[in-house]
Amino acid sequence: METIRELKPGIYSVGAIDWDRRLFDELIPLPDGTSYNAYLVKGKEKTALIDTVDPKMADVLIDNLKQLGVKSIDYVIANHAEQDHSGALPQILELYPKAKVVCTAKCRSLLMDLLFIPEDRIVPVGEEEKLSLGGKTLMFIHAPWVHWPETMVTYLMEDRILFSCDLFGSHLATSALFVTDERIVYEAAKRYYAEIMMPFRVVIRGNLEKIGNLDISIIAPSHGPAYDNPDFILSAYKDWVSDEVKNEVVIPYVSMHGSTKKMVDYLVKGLIGRGMSVRQFNLSEIDLGKLSMALVDAATIVIGSPTVLVGPHPNVVSVAYLVNALRPKLRFASVIGSYSWGGKMVDQLTTMISGLKVNILSPVVIKGFPKEKDFMELERLADEIFNRHKELGIIEKGGMR
Ligand code: FEO
Repeated sequence: METIRELKPGIYSVGAIDWDRRLFDELIPLPDGTSYNAYLVKGKEKTALIDTVDPKMADVLIDNLKQLGVKSIDYVIANHAEQDHSGALPQILELYPKAKVVCTAKCRSLLMDLLFIPEDRIVPVGEEEKLSLGGKTLMFIHAPWVHWPETMVTYLMEDRILFSCDLFGSHLATSALFVTDERIVYEAAKRYYAEIMMPFRVVIRGNLEKIGNLDISIIAPSHGPAYDNPDFILSAYKDWVSDEVKNEVVIPYVSMHGSTKKMVDYLVKGLIGRGMSVRQFNLSEIDLGKLSMALVDAATIVIGSPTVLVGPHPNVVSVAYLVNALRPKLRFASVIGSYSWGGKMVDQLTTMISGLKVNILSPVVIKGFPKEKDFMELERLADEIFNRHKELGIIEKGGMR
């Protein structure tokens, strides 16, 4: 079934909507499916296809091109080498034998390695290099680490459209070409940012500055709907990539026999009572996307774990590894939990999150079920978190920010 939609005269969305996909990279939950957007730009003399689709949906892209009567393609712009955008390149190049692939030099190398695209079919382009299609001019802006080191974005100068591939994307299957409900898309785009872009926050900040020089009327990403109000997503990204943290504490935890859960509940109550916002996640039933989103703005993480064979629970290990890799802008971290006969849980967990630039606040790890003196220790930790947040100026007098 074709899914052709016109952005502007001569510019079409020709990609595929994947309503049923529920997992990306065998890791990331996709509660709302996703899309692999590809765009056809017809100039007076040449035609360009911007990105392709995931290989499993190549037939949708090809049907769309046939439906539009596209007899020849001169250029396929590969903004990104990851297969959800480049995977249908081999079929497209076979179908359109005169087409050249246009991408960064790093992307060329990846496309040759990942998809065996012949070198002579690829034309590398430099920073701000322009390509005229006749009345429509594409300008290529190198934007490394949105999401891999080879990524670039493409700006259609006359129509002021930025084709941003993963950047500004959202895993959202929708029949709408443009954003219709900003609240829904904000949530999906923030989830996407948290899972995909957050590790590269500082580099992305530089890329946003570069893009900030452009006059943009539409941002057309390669996942989710396009933005005809670009300020909406640009200002959301500026907020997410900034160094500002919010008065929020994230508490991922596992409890096997209720001791750690009792500690978590007590601490959460104490933090809320002190005017802090708390997000609590039971890792036995976790949506990793929701945890990642909570980490975008939070100032503090407190990891709760029982002791399993002298170390943290394996589900906690997995999440600590992920948090360390996602590199959120957290400022403080601590550990709470329980043991029966000893262990090295705190040492192991703090080593696992050593990539985060956080101050470790005194952990509360107790023997058995929590007793009065343990609750006093949790009060101390709640006070410590409150005082640290206060020092950052993120607690407003008498309430939460
Ligand atoms: Fe949507 Fe990094 O691929």
